[in-house]
Amino acid sequence: MIKVDDLTKVYKLSKKQMIEQRTKKNMKKAVKNLSLTAKPGEIYGLLGPNGAGKTTTLRCIATLLKPTDGNISVCGHDTVKDSEKVRECISFLTNEIKLDPQFSPKYLFNFFGRLHKQDEKTINDRREKLFNYFGIKDFEDKKYEELSTGMKQKASIAVSLVHDPQVVIFDEPTNGLDIITARNVTDYLKLMKEEGKTVIISTHIMSEAEKLCDRIGIIINGALVMEGTLKEILTSTNTSDLEDAFFELYQLHNKEEA
Ligand SMILES: Nc1ncnc2c1ncn2[C@@H]1O[C@H](COP(=O)(O)OP(=O)(O)OP(=O)(O)O)[C@@H](O)[C@H]1O
Ligand SMILES: [Mg+2]
Repeated sequence: MIKVDDLTKVYKLSKKQMIEQRTKKNMKKAVKNLSLTAKPGEIYGLLGPNGAGKTTTLRCIATLLKPTDGNISVCGHDTVKDSEKVRECISFLTNEIKLDPQFSPKYLFNFFGRLHKQDEKTINDRREKLFNYFGIKDFEDKKYEELSTGMKQKASIAVSLVHDPQVVIFDEPTNGLDIITARNVTDYLKLMKEEGKTVIISTHIMSEAEKLCDRIGIIINGALVMEGTLKEILTSTNTSDLEDAFFELYQLHNKEEA
């Protein structure tokens, strides 16, 4: 279970960042009073334009960032006070985290397995299962830097799941993947959901959110502007697909900000 309660995250900007972002303010409010709940046996999808605050929200849930305001609990543990406990029960995937280029998927899997205090047999069994599932066996001994984008992504996903976590936090998990590999990944997310795990993802792919997610949260300029099942979102926006709903909400809420 993930419970985000009134999360606000403000970044302090350096002079360089202020110039890059063409702003005179030295603060950026990336997430504003955001609350959401993702339950066991459910896939929750965060949808939003570039810079909306998806990665920031997911990083706060994964204990990598400290909220400026608000509380987050994961598996009943507070992400600030009990960050160690939270880290034990989550898997976090983001394209901003790079695994060491010199090591192979097999080496990294074993390394992270030991880091999570798994015994050797458990690590080997789990590696066989995940590497077979994601088709990693053929390149398990190759250096990371020699792998293609899709191979790297698949290996990162497998490594992030080494400890069979209860909560899965994946930032754009199918980013850069071909449709076969993407399906492979989304099928695995469904499998984890059926096992009763809590899954939260961010995505830009409307069809993925439509097909995969039990509930969808739409985030614009750091605020969660709508949340619900696909059906609920289409009904409230009076649209017939998620892309149209997204545009409606974007036009409505982006104006407010301007
Ligand atoms: N480390 C940081 N320092 C300062 N500002 C940041 C930092 N990280 C993100 N931001 C800003 O916070 C806002 C939200 O960024 P975030 O990465 O959470 O968006 P996102 O929804 O994940 O976007 P995308 O779809 O492009 O991945 C953006 O305006 C971004 O410029
Ligand atoms: Mg992002």
